[in-house]
Amino acid sequence: MKADQELPFHASSRSKIKQYLTIALYNDLKTLRTPSGYTLDQAITSGIENPDSSIGIYAGDMESYDCFAPVLLPIIEDYHRLNPGWSHKPGLQEAVLPDLDPEQTFIRSSRIRVARNLCGFPFSGNMNPDQRLALEKRVKHLFKNLSEKLSGTYTSFTDLDEKQFNALLEKGLAFRKGDRFMASAGINRDYPLGRGIFISRDNVVRIWVNEEDHLRIIAQSQGGDLAYVFNRLIQIVRALEDKLDFAFDPKKGFLTACPTNIGTAMRAGVHIHLKQLEKKRSLLEAITRAYHLQIRGTDGEKTAVEKAVFDISNARRLDISANTIVKDLHKGLQAIIQAERNL
Ligand code: ARG
Repeated sequence: MKADQELPFHASSRSKIKQYLTIALYNDLKTLRTPSGYTLDQAITSGIENPDSSIGIYAGDMESYDCFAPVLLPIIEDYHRLNPGWSHKPGLQEAVLPDLDPEQTFIRSSRIRVARNLCGFPFSGNMNPDQRLALEKRVKHLFKNLSEKLSGTYTSFTDLDEKQFNALLEKGLAFRKGDRFMASAGINRDYPLGRGIFISRDNVVRIWVNEEDHLRIIAQSQGGDLAYVFNRLIQIVRALEDKLDFAFDPKKGFLTACPTNIGTAMRAGVHIHLKQLEKKRSLLEAITRAYHLQIRGTDGEKTAVEKAVFDISNARRLDISANTIVKDLHKGLQAIIQAERNL
């Protein structure tokens, strides 16, 4: 791309990439290539093609974070609302927290995920078919050799016929090709090749392979026992960490394809039914804000809330430890349930 006067961001776009990428900065960075050959033009394609992007830039490998730091750092600091001196806070220790809703009156399910990428492979948007397959082979082997307690089955999507795949989808187990933001970033390329899912024997742990990140490690269960879900997640993360080298930076934490996910790379949340608070959205929003939580639609990112079932999860994931995220979520949900009961 040649830029003299103006970069081709849509007039309507309020993305962070449009805000922070000046022409001068663009011209400084446009000839750079990361070791896997990723360029600034590739990194910002999604932001250009999708004017409604919130940030509009992806990393093509772990080195992108250093290579394109002059534009990425201000975006990261703004998006994650970081204070000067910010740094990744390590820590992933088993937690003890009372079940908030043992009768399951409000909380339908709890889900905690972390994203992880492997050193030595480009990130999803910059992978070729061989690399996706090699990564899949690597982790497949690992899954096979997990201890009895953690064991489960791995399924490659390419091994399934349409009916089998749809059956998995219906159970919420498979993942589809990503959205248009990911499509523009190259993340959907060659889908479903190299993609698949590991499912633990009791169904609590699931690992998505080659989705937006190399690995999305997920623990999920009915009801509101956050500590149980968190502790299950920790066990599998530790087992994988033992054998794999994850893309990590001491200051930025775990590095991910999308800069919104760096740090703990964790999203911890619940599906919660709030019949009263649905009619008092401003109250619900005030509580979630106070506890650094965010509300998403019932079907996840960029979807609507259906039948008063809210997806409530942590808003912060960098400069805060995984344990603090879970503790804050627990406190916030306690306040939300209290408010719902009072109405
Ligand atoms: N690129 C999209 C945007 O800027 C994604 C934002 C975060 N979501 C994600 N799945 N990484 O709006």
